[in-house]
Amino acid sequence: MRDVFRAYNFQEIRTPIFESTELFARGVGEETDIVAKEMYTWEDRGRAQSDQGQSLTLRPENTAGVVRAYIEHKLWDRGLSKLYYIGPQFRRERPQKGRYRQFYQIGAEVIGPASAGSESPARDAEILALLATLLDRLGIKDWTLELNSVGCVNDRAAYNEALRKALEPVAPKMCVDCQRRAVTNPLRGFDCKVPEDQPIIETLPRISEFLDEPCRQHFEQVKEILTAVGVEFKLNDRLVRGLDYYSRTAFEFTHGALGAQNAILGGGRYDGLAELLGSPQPAPGIGFAIGEDRLVMALSESAEAVLRKPDVYVAPLGADMNKEAARLARELRRHDVVVDLGDESFRLKKSFEAATKAGSKYILIVGENEVKADAFALKNLATGEQVSVPRRELAQRIQG
Ligand code: HAM
Repeated sequence: MRDVFRAYNFQEIRTPIFESTELFARGVGEETDIVAKEMYTWEDRGRAQSDQGQSLTLRPENTAGVVRAYIEHKLWDRGLSKLYYIGPQFRRERPQKGRYRQFYQIGAEVIGPASAGSESPARDAEILALLATLLDRLGIKDWTLELNSVGCVNDRAAYNEALRKALEPVAPKMCVDCQRRAVTNPLRGFDCKVPEDQPIIETLPRISEFLDEPCRQHFEQVKEILTAVGVEFKLNDRLVRGLDYYSRTAFEFTHGALGAQNAILGGGRYDGLAELLGSPQPAPGIGFAIGEDRLVMALSESAEAVLRKPDVYVAPLGADMNKEAARLARELRRHDVVVDLGDESFRLKKSFEAATKAGSKYILIVGENEVKADAFALKNLATGEQVSVPRRELAQRIQG
C-alpha cells in the first residue's frame, strides 16, 4: 500500500484517535447513523474544578480529522495536499462478519485551494485509478466500482425538497427513523435497512435528475478519463453514502466474497467541508477509506501468496553453536534475507520439522565442522538438494 501511495506522491498524516465531538457532529452530520447512534462519546472532566469539561469522541472516521488538521496547520500554503492514513476507527455497531466496533481504515485525502487543482475532475479520476491499481496489485480480483454524482449544495437542496414532497404521503407507512428523516434530512432515508421500507424507497426520485450543468459536466469528465485509462465502473444513482459531507463524485468498491458487508471501501468529493469546519478559504477535496479488515477478508483466499515466508531456517547444532548461528542470521538479515532462527534445544530432526512448519525455503546447518570450514550445509526443503556454501556466498545463494 505504501509503495502505491509513494508512486502517486502521497505523504502520511497521523491525526489523534479522539477529537472534539463537535468536529464529527458538524463534519459527518447530526442525522447520519454514525453521529446519531454509533459514536463513542464521553464528557472529559476539566483540569481544575472551575474548568468546563469538554465532550470528546473516539474517531468514527478520519476525513474530519484530516480537514481539521489542514485548517489548524494552514496547509493551503503548500498547494495541493495529498495525504494518507492507516489506523483504527470506532463505531458502535452490532459486531458481525466484516463489521467491528474497532476497525481499521487505510485512507487518503487530496485537499487544497481550487487554484492548486483540487476541484478538477482529473483528481477524481486519479484517485479512482489509484484504487484500481492498488486492488489489482494486492491480487484482489472481481471488484466492482460503483459510481455516482450526488451534486452540489444547490442540487441537493432541490433534491431534498423533491424527496420531502414524495415522502409526505408515504412516510407514515415507514419506520420511525424514516418518518423523522423525512422531515429533518430526507436524503438519509436511503440509509434505511428495514426491508418493508425498501419498495417505497425504490419509488423515490433520483439524484441524477437534479444535477445542474456544472455538476453534470464535472461528472461527464470523470467518466471520460476513467474510460480513457481503462478503469471500469458501474453507474448507481442510488449511491448517496452515509455521511453528509459528500458533493459531486461518490463511489464504493464492492466485492462479492464479502457477503452482506460488501463495501471494501468508500469515498467521494467533499467540496465545502473545510468551510463548514471553519476554514477561512475554500478547500475542495476528495478521498476514500478502505476497510482494512474487509480488504484482508477479500485477500484471505490468496493470503498464502501474500505472506512472505522465511527464506531460510538457521539451525544451530548444540548450545555452543548459538553464537555462530546468531552471527550468521544477523549477516543474512542485513542482506534482506528473511531468517527464522532456531536454538540449541532442537536436534537436527526437530529443526527440520520446525523449518518445514514455518514454510522456509532452505535450512542452514550450523555445526562445529561447518564453522571450522567457514562453509555451511544449505538444504533446499522442497527439492531435498543439499550443498556446502562458503559464508560469503550464502546470501546470494539463498536469494538466487
Ligand atoms: P465509510 O464508508 O463510512 O467512509 O467507511 C469506509 C470503509 O470503512 C467502508 O467501506 C468499510 O470497508 C469500512 N468500514 C466502515 N465501518 C466499518 C466497521 N464497523 N467494521 C469494519 N469496516 C468498516 C468513510 O469513513 C469516509 N471517511 C471515507 C472518505 C474519505 N470519504 C472521503 N474521504
